[in-house]
Amino acid sequence: MLSSAVLAVGAAALVAAQAPSYAPIRVDCPSDSILSDAGNPLEGTQQLPQGEQDYISRRRSQVLPNQWQSYLQDNATGSTGYDAVQIAQQQPNLGIAVSGGGLRASLFGAGTISALDSRNSSTAGGLLQLATYLTGVSGGSWTTTSIALNDLEPIYSLVLGINDSTSGGWLLDRDILAPGGIISFGNNGDYYDTLEADVRAKADAGFPISLTDLWGRALSYHFLNETNEDNFYSTSAPHDQGTLFSAIKYTQNFQSAAMPLPILVTTSRVSEESQQANDSTTVIPLENVGFEISPYSFGSFEPGLAAYIPTEYLGTQLDNGQPTNRCVQYFDNAGFAMGSSASLFNAVQESFAGAAFADVISYLLQAITDLDPPEGSVDLVANYPNSFMNYNPSTGYSFQSAGNEILQITDGGEDGQNVGFMPLLVRSREVDVIFAIDGSADTSETYANGTSLIATSDKSALYMQNFTAFPPIPSTQQDFLEQGLTTRPTFFGCNSTTGGNMSETGAYPLVIYHPNHAGNNPGATNYSTFKLSYEYDEVVSFLDAAHELAMRGYPSPESPTEPDEQWPLCLKCAVVDRARARANINRTAECQACMDRYCWSDGIADSLINATNTAQNNTPSPQPESGATSLGSVSTFAGVAAALVGGLALLA
Ligand SMILES: *[C@@H]1O[C@H](CO)[C@@H](O)[C@H](O)[C@H]1NC(C)=O
Ligand SMILES: *[C@@H]1O[C@H](CO)[C@@H](O)[C@H](O)[C@H]1NC(C)=O
Ligand SMILES: *[C@@H]1O[C@H](CO)[C@@H](O)[C@H](O)[C@H]1NC(C)=O
Ligand SMILES: *[C@@H]1O[C@H](CO)[C@@H](O)[C@H](O)[C@H]1NC(C)=O
Ligand SMILES: *[C@@H]1O[C@H](CO)[C@@H](O)[C@H](O)[C@H]1NC(C)=O
Ligand SMILES: *[C@@H]1O[C@H](CO)[C@@H](O)[C@H](O)[C@H]1NC(C)=O
Ligand SMILES: *[C@@H]1O[C@H](CO)[C@@H](O)[C@H](O)[C@H]1NC(C)=O
Ligand SMILES: *[C@@H]1O[C@H](CO)[C@@H](O)[C@H](O)[C@H]1NC(C)=O
Ligand SMILES: *[C@@H]1O[C@H](CO)[C@@H](O)[C@H](O)[C@H]1NC(C)=O
Ligand SMILES: *[C@@H]1O[C@H](CO)[C@@H](O)[C@H](O)[C@H]1NC(C)=O
Ligand SMILES: *[C@@H]1O[C@H](CO)[C@@H](O)[C@H](O)[C@H]1NC(C)=O
Ligand SMILES: *[C@@H]1O[C@H](CO)[C@@H](O)[C@H](O)[C@H]1NC(C)=O
Repeated sequence: MLSSAVLAVGAAALVAAQAPSYAPIRVDCPSDSILSDAGNPLEGTQQLPQGEQDYISRRRSQVLPNQWQSYLQDNATGSTGYDAVQIAQQQPNLGIAVSGGGLRASLFGAGTISALDSRNSSTAGGLLQLATYLTGVSGGSWTTTSIALNDLEPIYSLVLGINDSTSGGWLLDRDILAPGGIISFGNNGDYYDTLEADVRAKADAGFPISLTDLWGRALSYHFLNETNEDNFYSTSAPHDQGTLFSAIKYTQNFQSAAMPLPILVTTSRVSEESQQANDSTTVIPLENVGFEISPYSFGSFEPGLAAYIPTEYLGTQLDNGQPTNRCVQYFDNAGFAMGSSASLFNAVQESFAGAAFADVISYLLQAITDLDPPEGSVDLVANYPNSFMNYNPSTGYSFQSAGNEILQITDGGEDGQNVGFMPLLVRSREVDVIFAIDGSADTSETYANGTSLIATSDKSALYMQNFTAFPPIPSTQQDFLEQGLTTRPTFFGCNSTTGGNMSETGAYPLVIYHPNHAGNNPGATNYSTFKLSYEYDEVVSFLDAAHELAMRGYPSPESPTEPDEQWPLCLKCAVVDRARARANINRTAECQACMDRYCWSDGIADSLINATNTAQNNTPSPQPESGATSLGSVSTFAGVAAALVGGLALLA
């Protein structure tokens, strides 16, 4: 139940939760500085935003202890043998991360989360309700935002719209960029006019615009809830032009602290020249500062910036922390936030010269030019008036983009980190365990191969100055493949080096890695990233397949097609293992058996290779999936569209 005080705050704030249009406005700045130094964990000064601290502490005091107890006491998902009260007292701290990879990643993330929802009777464990944080990158940011702004609606009704006649679900049968058909632009005319009118309002208000704005507007038609089958082309119906990312705070589940805190992940670049000049194998080098967008704050906890501003004031230009003009509100449009995390235009730039992309990109660029972008706008990235201009981080680093008036925000996966680990590794968040959902298209069969884990491991080792730590993982993708770690969930970092104390330097969370894989062919989950629309039946079978894969665990090598019955128990053992260590309890025999089965360490690499070979010999060769044929219908337009959400596979 909500207290009346909370309700009153909620009602007052709701007035400000929806902007009248897509255009940001200028308001007086508050008397206190809006820029906060995030501090340095090595000096014990790292500070989370106050709003986040309050939310998490409310969630921990009012909601989570009971939920952890019921989870531990629920024998349907297996009994760990631990004392539920004792474990719950230690406040297990779980994060869930949904990777990028276009609509495939959105759907793979959604179907997996459905299997982690306590409201679904076929669950591997109600981790969605237990999680403290839920991050999303690119296509994963659409899932994360959609779940949060739709107030934790159960996945099947959220995506399919079956439960709510006013909201049509994700409407994925309509292509995201060309809902009226990809053959001719004509059918899309009104639709584009509407998107362009929205973006024009932002430009007219004096704010920089780019392709990301049009893109974010298009995403809003699908992942937010004001658009349905009937009003899709209506130029007068609202289409979430005014829906703000910070408005997540005013949903009922957030008000009652019943929702994991959603965080979207992005990267940044200094300039087009710096991107072109760089010979990094990814579009954005790992040393570039990654930004996060939460309902409370925008900024970074990385040593290269270590500062943030309130999300409500996003879009405010500051010079060394001082406003250069009035403050800004309504810049944190939810569609723009999703578009920013999935802003891949700069990554496909080099392909523009290729005939395939030229037409559509020039069409979209012309549309932006026609909107009279204010001076300084940068076409191919998300434009954020720089709140960190001339800011000197207190960490001793200098911020790469400190000289920019416009902060250039790019797709969260462009540095290779397609799973949003970084916010979950922020030391002050003290995350114990991360359920990492990886729907990346790394392999030729459009499955994950560990690339994103390796990127995060590299970033932690090379550029994080011990601000974070990542558990040991295999050093190459080849190792992931040979050891079978791309075909089942694996636990990394099982042994805590700090007795479960997550504040110590070098403490890393346990990572539960759930890669997209063929499994026992429960249905296609490896559609091309090029696919920007799905028929209703395809969506249902995709969700079902992803749900089933998440229930499968690590089948025994002797019977690789049978789900592991111990999986829900093993998952439970893993998510509470750091809390168990803090409580000074030894692992029970049943949990130790799980860890022996699911934990990775370098020492068992050889036996994993052997087991993988055995399993492969026992598995009938997979039938081609229907997903494989979908590429046939890709036209020029769809090709570009895909490039926009696709991911780095295209660059290879
Ligand atoms: C669950 O199982 C444990 C041990 O197997 C038992 O002590 C406990 O009573 C069971 N709980 C419920 C709710 O059945
Ligand atoms: C629970 O998951 C199943 C798939 O296993 C799905 O068919 C069903 O619709 C889901 N139920 C709810 C309430 O979302
Ligand atoms: C959209 O979701 C919000 C919850 O975040 C809800 O308050 C609102 O009524 C929904 N709108 C529609 C049109 O379904
Ligand atoms: C539909 O809504 C009802 C009532 O809110 C809920 O109990 C049910 O689980 C929902 N069904 C699905 C498939 O989400
Ligand atoms: C390219 O990236 C490297 C780090 O990967 C950096 O040291 C260098 O300054 C970058 N070059 C340019 C021109 O930005
Ligand atoms: C793994 O995926 C990356 C792309 O993310 C690709 O470049 C690499 O070739 C793949 N490696 C293997 C061994 O499959
Ligand atoms: C999906 O995986 C199957 C094998 O499981 C493969 O035959 C097919 O080509 C893959 N589809 C895509 C689009 O990569
Ligand atoms: C990080 O910690 C390790 C081990 O404690 C130390 O050797 C190394 O110098 C530290 N790195 C930085 C950049 O402080
Ligand atoms: C955890 O580690 C921090 C940093 O070293 C220390 O200050 C704190 O006392 C430790 N907590 C416990 C319970 O040992
Ligand atoms: C925990 O395990 C250690 C090492 O196996 C053992 O010495 C200790 O007695 C155990 N503690 C409890 C409470 O069982
Ligand atoms: C964890 O530590 C135990 C002994 O302390 C060791 O036997 C085991 O191999 C380690 N497991 C991993 C995954 O590192
Ligand atoms: C792996 O298989 C090889 C060849 O069958 C065998 O020689 C080796 O001992 C096995 N290694 C492990 C760790 O099982």
